[in-house]
Amino acid sequence: MRHHWLLLGACGWVLLILMFVSRFISFRVGDDYGERQGQSSTVGGTKVVKPLSVFNQEKQDPTPSHQASVVPSVADWQAVVEERLELLSTVCKNSSLRNLTHVPISKFVLDRIFVCDKHKILFCQTPKVGNTQWKKVLIVLNGEFTSVEEIPENLVHDHEKNGLPRLSSFTPQEITHRLSTYFKFFIVRDPFERLISAFKDKFVKNPRFEPWYKHDIAPAIIRKYRRSHRESDLAASGLHFEDFVRYLGDAEGRRRMDRQFGEHVIHWVTYAELCAPCEIQYSVVGHHETLERDAPHILRAAGIERLVSYPAIPPGITRYNRTKVERFFSGVGRRDVRRLFARYQGDFRMFGYPSPDFLLN
Ligand SMILES: *[C@@H]1O[C@H](CO)[C@@H](O)[C@H](O)[C@H]1NC(C)=O
Ligand SMILES: *[C@@H]1O[C@H](CO)[C@@H](O)[C@H](O)[C@H]1NC(C)=O
Ligand SMILES: *[C@@H]1O[C@H](CO)[C@@H](O)[C@H](O)[C@H]1NC(C)=O
Repeated sequence: MRHHWLLLGACGWVLLILMFVSRFISFRVGDDYGERQGQSSTVGGTKVVKPLSVFNQEKQDPTPSHQASVVPSVADWQAVVEERLELLSTVCKNSSLRNLTHVPISKFVLDRIFVCDKHKILFCQTPKVGNTQWKKVLIVLNGEFTSVEEIPENLVHDHEKNGLPRLSSFTPQEITHRLSTYFKFFIVRDPFERLISAFKDKFVKNPRFEPWYKHDIAPAIIRKYRRSHRESDLAASGLHFEDFVRYLGDAEGRRRMDRQFGEHVIHWVTYAELCAPCEIQYSVVGHHETLERDAPHILRAAGIERLVSYPAIPPGITRYNRTKVERFFSGVGRRDVRRLFARYQGDFRMFGYPSPDFLLN
């Protein structure tokens, strides 16, 4: 009888722990999704992730996104990807956008690019666009871990230990060689939606427990950019999206602050600043909005589709949500939106995102 109750008690604890853990799992859904869904098996000593999940997603998706209602063939998708590269090259030549599109290949850029020598791949990190998943894919390819599931969450971003070197850690000759011969890619999404995601992830939720966003960066931005503030609401209310937009749109004024913020700015500086897409000839630019098709395409194009798959993408999560964008910008003045757009216009043009006229006019 006594054992009976002990067993019941133990079950209760297990349930409680499970509930607790599941809260953290659902926390991550949003930008770093699909961690647990990938199926995998061990083949010949190396773990092979079945490239099923990503493909299944396409067929099961009951509501086709605005891009197309018919899933295009492999050849059609190749054409889509080539068109993107043509557009990028055209916009790079536009001299009136030069300031926003051309960026020297600095150490900052080389720090953003991760290297998989074994399969000759370079991946430029654009945070808030599902990058953690790609990093995991590359860590597995590099051989430090045998499957995506085995990589501890805190190690994904620890580049001393995860076996995923940055391009900046090589000599100039090695860098040039890799830039000119390797398969190179990065992923983009609607630039304003990305900023909203960065704001939510770093200043509202902060699921990775990075206190400096709320304790150092937010107060600095509030002090400089909040229109009316008393000491009391500074501490109490935290960073507002309006403050963040005003800071982002102030190209000149924020320079000194950004130097102080250091690497943390990677979550909101432009794609151009992160990856120098007009200087480096990337092989593919993936779009988050069509990741269900871009992910398998990238794996095919890089010649690794038999070795890994991109973890399953929860339905609907990659879709552009105009309602969300409108909601976040509803408290932001037109002038501030226009300034922000002026600053991020290069990203909109280079990657074919329509200018957000519903916010500008
Ligand atoms: C260059 O960019 C500007 C600003 O977006 C645009 O108005 C202009 O039409 C572009 N020029 C060409 C040749 O595409
Ligand atoms: C480009 O930047 C330079 C220096 O910051 C500035 O003087 C110039 O007006 C900018 N040009 C455009 C088209 O924004
Ligand atoms: C779009 O965003 C709004 C506001 O955040 C949310 O209520 C809605 O569920 C989202 N729609 C989709 C399809 O995710």
